[in-house]
Amino acid sequence: MSRKTIHDIQAKTGKEKITCLTAYTAPIARLLDQHVDILLVGDSLGMVLYEYENTLPVTLDQMIEHTKSVIKATSDSCVIMDLPFGTYEESKQLALKNALTAIKDTNCAGVKLEGGTLIEETVKYITERGVPVMGHIGLQPQSVIIDGGYKIKGRDKFEWKKYIDDAVALERAGAFSVVLEGMAEPLAEEITKTINIPTIGIGASAKCDGQVLVTEDMLGLTNISPKFVKEYANLRAPIEKAVKQYVSDVKLGKFPEQQHTYQMKPSIVKDNK
Ligand code: KIV
Repeated sequence: MSRKTIHDIQAKTGKEKITCLTAYTAPIARLLDQHVDILLVGDSLGMVLYEYENTLPVTLDQMIEHTKSVIKATSDSCVIMDLPFGTYEESKQLALKNALTAIKDTNCAGVKLEGGTLIEETVKYITERGVPVMGHIGLQPQSVIIDGGYKIKGRDKFEWKKYIDDAVALERAGAFSVVLEGMAEPLAEEITKTINIPTIGIGASAKCDGQVLVTEDMLGLTNISPKFVKEYANLRAPIEKAVKQYVSDVKLGKFPEQQHTYQMKPSIVKDNK
């Protein structure tokens, strides 16, 4: 099977829900690849893998190394890489330079940027020069300092215009899809009806064209997860059980067994007699 393209993703809009999960490493990416349309190498890896307080310290180099490993381990899904905080705000030229580096170094299908009307010109500049862009509006984790926390958007109707304008601006700029994060269901529904590119929701209700979750959250591998996360499995328990068994086996001399142990070659044993 060949990799899904951004056009395959767009073709599903309104017909079939689009599925997306995050992947940061080869083992997880390999497991998810056959099942989801999009694998997002999200900058959430800063919090999930590196224990950063937020996503802001994540660097382009980190994103590139993780994306490379996800690409190497997969063959079917459309892989999108987050451009981290500080790599696209300064100028559209810098944004293009970093977006091109992402594409050339990793072979990913596109990059994701947070922001709406404010980055319209940047998104237009990048897409017109050949780099597909996924937008990200609503709750923008890279704005955590300026927002004073992670706040759900659109619960008051007077806020709606800003987010609808953001979505329309991204579509106009050429984004191929847009993540709607942390927003009230009616706003997500309104945006999804207003624009023609697919909306991918996270904490933005079932009214979106598709859904994304952080894989470690839905597998029960993170400590705190927000209300919008459904824990489809709790892998903490089986992992802990296996680790306890290993430690006990090692202490009791039950591991390694003969089947895990190398012996001398028969000829060498003979020569040494
Ligand atoms: O960084 C990330 O993983 C994301 C998704 C949660 C949408 O941006």
